[in-house]
Amino acid sequence: MKKLLIVYHSKGGKNHEMANAVYKGATHPDIEGVEVRFLRAYDALDKDLLWADGIIFGTPENFGYMSGALKDFFDRTFYEVEGMVDAKSYCVFIGAGNDGQGALSSITRICKGYKFKEIQEPLIIIGELTGEGKTSCEELGMGMAAGLEAGIF
Ligand SMILES: Cc1cc2nc3c(=O)[nH]c(=O)nc-3n(C[C@H](O)[C@H](O)[C@H](O)COP(=O)(O)O)c2cc1C
Repeated sequence: MKKLLIVYHSKGGKNHEMANAVYKGATHPDIEGVEVRFLRAYDALDKDLLWADGIIFGTPENFGYMSGALKDFFDRTFYEVEGMVDAKSYCVFIGAGNDGQGALSSITRICKGYKFKEIQEPLIIIGELTGEGKTSCEELGMGMAAGLEAGIF
């Protein structure tokens, strides 16, 4: 079994809904060879990163940066896992108000420090989360899980 970790933060609920849709895609019945762990950023630990083969990070953009909760997760885990998570695959979803680029660039920079490998385009959803947006989240989760299952990354 391959292992996929979803770590996210949401204050108002939109990124929670997005994370649920990502989880739904990642646990699609056609994908049988992937175990998924679904955690809020404040609950996630260094051992979850060590456990995972791939990680999906989700966050709102707050003040032009990732949420404090996701930053806290990175702060709490970086030195604990340094050198033990090289080349693990990751991707990102961001539910933002009007931008999202600040959150994305800060996550990208930090993930380079972990030596994670980005394997899918980030998904940024501005404004209201529509049915189409939820479908994109499901596709992100399914794509990541299917790629892990197939051994593509
Ligand atoms: C304190 C605060 C700061 C925010 N700063 C930004 C920002 O810099 N850029 C942006 O696009 N949206 C910003 N927003 C809007 C949120 O990113 C947006 O409402 C998001 O969908 C909230 O996600 P959530 O419902 O999962 O908490 C901010 C919201 C809050 C509460």
